[in-house]
Amino acid sequence: MKEIILTGVTPTGMPHLGNYIGAFRPALAYQDNPNIDPIYFVADGHSLVKLWDPKIRPQYILEVAATWLALGLDPNKVLFYRQSDVPEIFELTWMLTSVTAKGLMNRAHAYKDSVAKNIEEGHSDHDAGIPMGLFCYPILMTADILMFNANKVPVGKDQIQHIEMARDIAGRFNHLYGTKLNLPEALIDETTPTLPGLDGRKMSKSYQNTIPLFVDSKTLRKLIMKIKTNSLMPGEPKDTTDCSLFAIYSALASDSEIAKMRQAYADGIGWGDAKQILFEFLDAHLTPARDKFNYYLENKKVVLDILAEGAEKARHRARPFLNELKHKAGFSL
Ligand code: TRP
Repeated sequence: MKEIILTGVTPTGMPHLGNYIGAFRPALAYQDNPNIDPIYFVADGHSLVKLWDPKIRPQYILEVAATWLALGLDPNKVLFYRQSDVPEIFELTWMLTSVTAKGLMNRAHAYKDSVAKNIEEGHSDHDAGIPMGLFCYPILMTADILMFNANKVPVGKDQIQHIEMARDIAGRFNHLYGTKLNLPEALIDETTPTLPGLDGRKMSKSYQNTIPLFVDSKTLRKLIMKIKTNSLMPGEPKDTTDCSLFAIYSALASDSEIAKMRQAYADGIGWGDAKQILFEFLDAHLTPARDKFNYYLENKKVVLDILAEGAEKARHRARPFLNELKHKAGFSL
């Protein structure tokens, strides 16, 4: 039996370098493993909870799909689809929602953060502006995972809680209906670094400190020049620890390149020169994928065809499995 590894990326803007290091690159490393059945998807249903502009949603969806492909996803090796093309997932979501304890959702980090923000801003209604979609988001994620009976889910540390919730919900469903849904496990690669952003905090869209993956060279250079450094002058030895510039370089460069950069720091390389090295390195590293990304954006039909084929394969797996679950839940007359 192959191990089913599943992960999704929510389309809420062009993926950035942190997503690449944290999600895309490790996931794609599994596609050539014959013992693994990889399932990767565009989580466009998840985008509904925070993105309400119907005019930009298509662009974001296309960008995430094109990113997977540009980075080398092979649809012959990976079950690749967009979530909203597989209505079975939403059907399962309701079945799971109906057995999920509300108290479990009260404890979800994303929800609690939103409540904390309301309290901080002095709202008398602590739930002000929080949609049910955000509250129930972990259940949709659970349905994504259980729909394909995934064993492992590669996620960042911020998502571990969601996987634990998925286990909880799967266990409860199994208990109530006698099903044998796998209890999924979070797959955390301790060697995957958390990438800092331009300001030194974790690279994240909500901090507006990201380096988008596929911007043109000029924009890329401009962003890299903005990376926060200290005020040491050229000639003064520099520390590589807690240095965003060095961390970003190290996440992608080879061991010998990293060693060379470390030496340059010790030798007092100027920040401008170090940034130029990082720029040239990243630009060279990302250009082939950027070209493919641009190709897919210009040839949308190619992407849509791949997604349509993936959706068909996904539904072919999902439908009978869901029917089985419905049967167990007492839906067969
Ligand atoms: N919630 C994940 C994120 O925002 C994306 C996601 C949706 C996902 N469904 C998933 C990840 C299922 C793993 C498995 O990053």
